[in-house]
Amino acid sequence: MGQKMVSNIKRVAVLLMVALFSYSTVSAETRPDVVERIKPVGTVVVGGQASADASAAASGAPAAPAKPVSEGEALYQAKGCGACHGPDGIKTAMPIYPKLVGLPVQYAVNQMKDIKSGARSNGQSVAMKGIVAGVTEEEMTKMAEWLAGKSSAAAPAPAPKKAKAAPAPAPKAAAAPAAKAESAPAPAPKAAAPAPAAAPAAGGDGAALYASKGCGACHGPDGNKTIMPIYPKVAGLPAQYSINQMKDIKSGARSNGQSAAMKGVVMAIDDKDLKAIAEWLATQ
Ligand code: HEC
Ligand code: HEC
Repeated sequence: MGQKMVSNIKRVAVLLMVALFSYSTVSAETRPDVVERIKPVGTVVVGGQASADASAAASGAPAAPAKPVSEGEALYQAKGCGACHGPDGIKTAMPIYPKLVGLPVQYAVNQMKDIKSGARSNGQSVAMKGIVAGVTEEEMTKMAEWLAGKSSAAAPAPAPKKAKAAPAPAPKAAAAPAAKAESAPAPAPKAAAPAPAAAPAAGGDGAALYASKGCGACHGPDGNKTIMPIYPKVAGLPAQYSINQMKDIKSGARSNGQSAAMKGVVMAIDDKDLKAIAEWLATQ
């Protein structure tokens, strides 16, 4: 800083000397080198004015109204999706309704289109049909993008992109039931053990069943990270919703999209094991 000042002073001094010298010998016009060297001084002044203008413009900028919510969120609110899926897409009005936060965009858009067209008509789909009838694909995508980017109450590290203050306490709540869920299903296998010889060790342990049945191959090791954007994230879905979907894919009541990819897998799983998996998934 001090050095810069010194060099500036030196430069001015040199310019003055040159100017005086030029004045006494030849006129400034005939000394283009002098004109050229004086020029930077003028530039600095102009620069100062320019930066003053810039700061004036900058101080005006914050006055422009900032968007309070994203387009996707605004659409979600305006269309009334929250009435069933929860104001944030996390806490659903009923355990048979799906949580939407964190679903891959492409999967979510496909489902909305399928419910709109009737390709997906299982379960409670009809409840939503009238609403998506008035939603364009572009709007679906915007909402899906907003939902996918939101941090999920039950999602651990991988999903969240935008850390929100609210979801923070939730993992604690989710962690507690997880511990309970692991101890609770324990008695079930005992009761089931006599009948199915299939997976006696795994029994009611949802986590072990999920792993042994190969669900993770498509839905990710803990149901959070799907291998394809057209596959659903299954972690954190309400248990009853998951059970219904698995049963519907098994029976063929739900056959839209890529359901066939999963049908063979669920065909070999009884309702009790599906329930155990769903209950474990709900805590993930
Ligand atoms: C009247 C209740 C209701 C409303 C309102 C509603 N939905 Fe749904 N939605 C459902 C139900 C129920 C399902 C699941 C259908 C089933 O039982 O299989 C569903 C499924 C979905 C799915 C697929 C989820 C998955 O995991 O497969 C998406 C995505 C979705 N809704 C988005 C929306 C959006 C966006 C809106 C607003 C435009 C909306 N929904 C409005 C009830 C509703
Ligand atoms: C080969 C890939 C694959 C395997 C293996 C698989 N799934 Fe799926 N699963 C899917 C696809 C694809 C869908 C969605 C179908 C569609 O496109 O609408 C789905 C849907 C679901 C749903 C409904 C999700 C929702 O939001 O509606 C649940 C729950 C589910 N699977 C759980 C499981 C469980 C538990 C297992 C293991 C027993 C399993 N899946 C094995 C591909 C698979």
